[in-house]
Amino acid sequence: MKRIKIFDTTLRDGEQTPGVNLNLKEKLMIAKSLENLGVDIIEAGFPMASLGDFQGVNTIAKEIRNSTIAALCRATKSDIDRAYEAIKVAQSPRIHTFIATSPIHLKYKLNMTEDEVLERAVEMVKYASTLCSDVEFSAEDAYRSNPEFLVKLFGKVIKAGAKVLNIPDTVGYALPNDYHDFIKYIVNNTEGIEKVDVSVHCHDDLGLAVANSLSGVLAGATQVECAVNGLGERAGNASLEEIVMAIETRKNHLGMYTNINTTGLWRTSKLVSSLSGVVVQPNKAIVGENAFAHESGIHQDGVLKEKSTYEIITPESVGKVDNNNIVLGKHSGRHAFSSYLKDNGIVLEQEALEEAFDRFKKLTDRKKTITWRDIEALVSNNVTLPQEAYKLVSFQILGGNKIIATTTVEIEKDGVVLRESAVGDGSIESAFKAVEKAVGKEVKLRDYSIHSVTDGEDALGEVTVKIEESGEVFVGKALSGDVMEASINALINAVNKMMDYFDNKK
Ligand code: KIV
Ligand code: ZN
Repeated sequence: MKRIKIFDTTLRDGEQTPGVNLNLKEKLMIAKSLENLGVDIIEAGFPMASLGDFQGVNTIAKEIRNSTIAALCRATKSDIDRAYEAIKVAQSPRIHTFIATSPIHLKYKLNMTEDEVLERAVEMVKYASTLCSDVEFSAEDAYRSNPEFLVKLFGKVIKAGAKVLNIPDTVGYALPNDYHDFIKYIVNNTEGIEKVDVSVHCHDDLGLAVANSLSGVLAGATQVECAVNGLGERAGNASLEEIVMAIETRKNHLGMYTNINTTGLWRTSKLVSSLSGVVVQPNKAIVGENAFAHESGIHQDGVLKEKSTYEIITPESVGKVDNNNIVLGKHSGRHAFSSYLKDNGIVLEQEALEEAFDRFKKLTDRKKTITWRDIEALVSNNVTLPQEAYKLVSFQILGGNKIIATTTVEIEKDGVVLRESAVGDGSIESAFKAVEKAVGKEVKLRDYSIHSVTDGEDALGEVTVKIEESGEVFVGKALSGDVMEASINALINAVNKMMDYFDNKK
């Protein structure tokens, strides 16, 4: 059996998804979840891109001990220095440097010849290897590059010290058979390639990223680059959960395995979706709400008789705990709460645990039956409030179909209570306007959505709000049995994140 290493790029390529903007705390939560999942390499960001990226990578490098931490950088000295500065504290750091190799990129983007690219790549891999023993080299747009050129280039970067060669299909143009043959050609012809890991990195523009990645490993690749929920540039990257479960489910046929603890996949997907604000489509393989739902009578009948009739993987194997049983109640204490989370694979740091317990206690005052799904939502929500934040003290709404909606809010910041009222076309608009007046900021609302966490009249409503400022999008979330309270808190959460982001940028 061949082991396939999982290289997760949710925090780098995934963070390049339009509208995704994770703060430091959120990046760290995702990194911890990836570490618990058993991801071999976490690409934590692109330190040269911004101070926020640098700090994100650096914090993750300090905190994560069981996964290699990679930082992306262009093939320039200053980029490499910045990347190394961010990851040098890691238990296992990796510099991931790249340069484009395709004729299109050389002509229109880099204005360089193949010889110049080769010289730069070799020089920069040599330089990076003086700083860090683990250097990955990526040939951007490799699939549209001249394969003979790649073979020559890869042979030389291996001699220069690269330990991993990445062969991306940057624009998602490949078809599975062609990508297979392309990787095979490189594996068969590159001098010294048996000493290094060969990596595939496929984008999903034609919906083939997972298929192409699997073709790549069948052709000899030993590392797959992927992202949770398939996040990434444009149509995204290969989805981590699909790659992992394809290998796991067909391991005997493929002769391969990964080190991923598959029961953490569902939870990690939920966390990434909640923090990124990118909703997972219900019919998505492995982590979609309907991935294990059997609707037709014939299918239901078959599954009741014997699960394997229509089920090739079980929900439990990916950690989907699908019951509406009452799990905890009003009298459950801190210890029962944390043991329950632990039993279900959720390990929180002390501060996050205290915050979650606090929210749990408030919830038990308002909701009779607390189910697993409530707890799941409660743990992944509202944990990212920066300090010094605005907090909702109270709100009052006057509404109806014959009167103008009016909302008064009281919001606290630094011990000062700000009270404002506003009217609007409906309760949500009046509430949002009142919040804007209180925080002294007009916000551009990009999206608003609400969904109920469980069934029943006392179900919790989870509201997601996206606001935009200077081209950046901020996602606010909140959970409550009262949809107006959840809506106001979600907006305040987004405003807090926006303020935090611009304060840190100063
Ligand atoms: O898609 C791509 O080519 C990349 C590289 C920078 C690895 O993301
Ligand atoms: Zn990419």
